Amino acid sequence: MLKKCLFPAAGYGTRFLPATKSMPKEMMPVVSKPLIEYGVEESLQAGLSDICMVTGRGKRALEDHFDTNYELEHQIAGSDKETLLTNIRQLIDSCTFSYTRQREMKGLGHAILCGETLIGKQPFGVVLADDLCINADGPGVLAQMAQLYKQFRCSIVAVMEVPEDEVHKYGVIAGQAISDDLIRVENMVEKPAREEAPSNLAIIGRYILTPDIFDLIRDTQPGKGGEIQITDALMTQAQLGCVLAYKFKGRRFDCGSIEGFIEATNYCYDKLYAH
Ligand code: UTP
Repeated sequence: MLKKCLFPAAGYGTRFLPATKSMPKEMMPVVSKPLIEYGVEESLQAGLSDICMVTGRGKRALEDHFDTNYELEHQIAGSDKETLLTNIRQLIDSCTFSYTRQREMKGLGHAILCGETLIGKQPFGVVLADDLCINADGPGVLAQMAQLYKQFRCSIVAVMEVPEDEVHKYGVIAGQAISDDLIRVENMVEKPAREEAPSNLAIIGRYILTPDIFDLIRDTQPGKGGEIQITDALMTQAQLGCVLAYKFKGRRFDCGSIEGFIEATNYCYDKLYAH
């Protein structure tokens, strides 16, 4: 039922300059695997195998990564290095990939709207690949959300508690608890000052969205920072119907920041790579 996953990946990644001057932020490797590959793996694990990417200028490496590199592959064929490509080859074989471009960086809401041409009129997942999510003890975060979608059939955002002095970096929600880990959203504010935050529950880069979100984004005026914010469109959707916030199981690393990226690298090296 959920088949498509949208990867908005058009942002400039200014916090990682100069690394991101000519390379997409999403291609930065955590140990030896680029962020985007972790994201696509998580999507496939959730059963969403139609991968739709919103890219921009200077992001061609993303398309090349999910394609065959004949010269390189011919060169290492038969050697023990070939096993290093097993994972990405399986991903490429198991998914379809389509791309569109966001020509002007007008915010995450606008990037998602650019994806409408790839998504059409069906519910879809959204993964911001610079938020690396790992659940070492069970299904990935998007798989947890896809399971909930089957039951509730409405938009779902993943949330986590953050320290009060960090709420200004996130969209922040408040609402009625349905269970220990599920909240019906009643209020949602993008990057609030500490005093204005309705809670300390911050939205991270995983969403399931119903397709009516596209019309709502079209009707959304630029908000914080002059950007079209997905949070504003989701707030309207919550008022008109239902949006759920889910406290996911697992760890999330903000790999768009240097501290988060280093933390993710250390975690993954210890958990996934070191023998
Ligand atoms: P960020 O807020 O992390 O912005 O975007 P950014 O430009 O990538 O990075 P900094 O802040 O300059 O370092 C969150 C996500 O939304 C996408 C980004 O690619 C990232 O995955 N995005 C944001 C777009 O695709 N288009 C936009 O106009 C804005």
